[in-house]
Formats: sequence, C-alpha cells, structure tokens
Amino acid sequence: MEYKNPKLILDSSKIEAGQLRWRSPSNIALVKYWGKYGQQQPRNPSISLTLSQAATDTTLSYSPKKSDKDIDLAFYFAGELRPDFAEKVEKYFRSLLAVFPFLGQMHLRIETNNSFPHSAGIASSASAMSALALILCDMERQFFETLSDENEFLQKVSYLSRLGSGSACRSVYPYVAIWGDSASIPNASNQYAIPYAEEIDPIFHTYHDDILIISRAEKSVSSRAGHQLMENNLYAENRYQQARQRLTRLVDAMRDGDLETFGKITESEALTLHALMMTSNPPYLLMEPNSDAAIRKVQTYRADTGHPLYFTLDAGPNLHLLYPDNVAEPIKQFIRTELTPLCQDCLYIADRCGAGPEKIDS
Ligand code: PMV
Repeated sequence: MEYKNPKLILDSSKIEAGQLRWRSPSNIALVKYWGKYGQQQPRNPSISLTLSQAATDTTLSYSPKKSDKDIDLAFYFAGELRPDFAEKVEKYFRSLLAVFPFLGQMHLRIETNNSFPHSAGIASSASAMSALALILCDMERQFFETLSDENEFLQKVSYLSRLGSGSACRSVYPYVAIWGDSASIPNASNQYAIPYAEEIDPIFHTYHDDILIISRAEKSVSSRAGHQLMENNLYAENRYQQARQRLTRLVDAMRDGDLETFGKITESEALTLHALMMTSNPPYLLMEPNSDAAIRKVQTYRADTGHPLYFTLDAGPNLHLLYPDNVAEPIKQFIRTELTPLCQDCLYIADRCGAGPEKIDS
C-alpha cells in the first residue's frame, strides 16, 4: 500500500484560514494485539468493540504558515498548551509529509479534549490518533476533492491511524472491527482494520462496556514497551498462534450469537494478556487485589444468575464489563451494589458499543 502523493500540494498564496472538527471513539480489544514488527504491523490479528462515550474531540484550525519550521504546529489539550504532546504530533505529521505534503504549507492549531478521565483504562491513543487521521484525510478531501468514496476514505483513515497507534486503526468503524491478516477472514489486513458489524449477530451492537476504575494510577508499562517485551517472551510464538485461532472461534461465536463462547474467549484473552506481562523480562504485575476480587464476583454472579456478564482487561488493573442490553437492568444493579465499592472513589464509567466517529460542524 502506497499513499505517497506529491500532487497534494496547495497554491501557498491562496491558503485561507479554516477548521475541521471530528469526534472519534476509543475501542476495547476482545482478542488482543500484543506484539508488533516493522512499521506498526501486528504479530496477530485482533478484534475490538468500538466504544461510544469514551472519545476524543479534536479541532484543527489551519491558516497561512507563521514560521519556517517544516511542521508549524501548536497543540492544546483540555485548554492548555502542551509542547510535550505537540512534539509527538509534529513527529507523526513529519512522517506523513510524503502522504500529505500540504501539512508543511500551513500553520496548524490543534485543540483536543477527551470525554473520559486520564488513566481510566481507556485507550486515549486510539481515540486521539484516529481523530487526527480523520481530520487529515478530511482536509485532503476538502482541498483536492479526492476520497469521495466513503470506503476508500475510511480505509485510508484506518491505515494512517495505525501508523499513529496500532489499535487506533480499529476505532474508525462502528461496533466491531478486525485488524490483522487472518486465514479465516480473507479481506482482513495488517495495514488497516476492516468493519465487521454487519457480519455478526446484532445483539453485539447492543453491548455495554462498563469500566470499573480499580485504580487511577499511571500505567507502569507503556504499550510501546509492552510490545517490545514480546520480542523476547518465551511464549510469544505459541501466543500468536493461539490468538489467530481464538480470533476465528470468536468471530464464529459472534456470527452465531453464542454469548457464552464469546465471553469465555474474551475472559481468557484478558488473562492471557496479563500472563504475557507476568512472563516478560522484566515481569509486570498490572492487576490489583481489587481487580482479582471483582473478577471473582463477576464469575460468581454469572454462575448464580445465568446472566451473560463477562469481563475483559486492557494493559492495566481496570475491568471492562461486557453484557448485552437485554440484561442491563439487573447487571447495573449488581455493579452498583457489589462492584463499585471495589473501585477507587467508587468510580465506574458506563459506556457501550457505538456507531463510530462523527464529523462535528464547527
Ligand atoms: O495500540 P497500542 O500500541 O497502544 O497497543 C494496544 C494494546 C492493547 O490495548 C493492550 C490491546 C489492543 O489490542 O488494544
């Protein structure tokens, strides 16, 4: 895949000020991406639910260039000027200058806000990077009247999101997305995610994801370091093979509306991710005693009631609780009475599967 395009250059004397605004959600992986190679390519395929409430809202304002820097950019997060974030975005934009040469022709002011608290166990890089990639492709579409085909537009957005943060490529699509080559999904690719909502039982479109904030402490291992640790993990090859098989089985279960198989694979995946961290060198133990207590309560509740409540985890201590809307009432009651006391400041975030990114008129 080659998106380099020297033709995407503007007549500098005609650049006028303007702005674009997109809101893009985070996502939670069911089969996890953990291990990468080359330019942000995954060692195994992954599948995720796109969230709804947990999102990044980003506005990019452009105007004639003010400095002779290759990328002329100011970055505001939650209303504050953030040179540390600006540096990362500058690096990302610089790496895309051959794809979008017009980025070097203007002053860019980026203002971004997250709808969710920091360190809540929600991947802010997924929502933030996909929001930026949406804006960049939308700029191309606006300036050059390209990318009028929606599928082509989203595929390019997903590809460029991936270069920013691997899992971000899955945030582009509604409800469910798959990323990474898979023998059982012929059009899946390592380069970009594909939409998968239409292929599965619609009950999964109604799924809730309530996030128990067990701890708000900063992550002790970044995902960049985590992927790196997989390179020397003794179990890596078996793990990649297991993930490929699990993806196939999970997709079958989702097609059939088999909530039990879906839940069992999802929980095993969460524990496998943590087992991989515990068997890395150095090892990381990211679960807290209350993560363990909440897991046991969820499993007991399920055994007692038969309700399909399952958990997953990201690379941290906070539990994501997954269940369909038709059992939301009793489950929410259970979460409030039994699980929130295990959370830091009794905090949990109620989210659910969502329809994907949206453009906001600014
Ligand atoms: O996209 P990254 O590099 O932040 O990695 C994400 C890794 C996990 O969140 C642990 C799993 C996943 O597939 O989202």
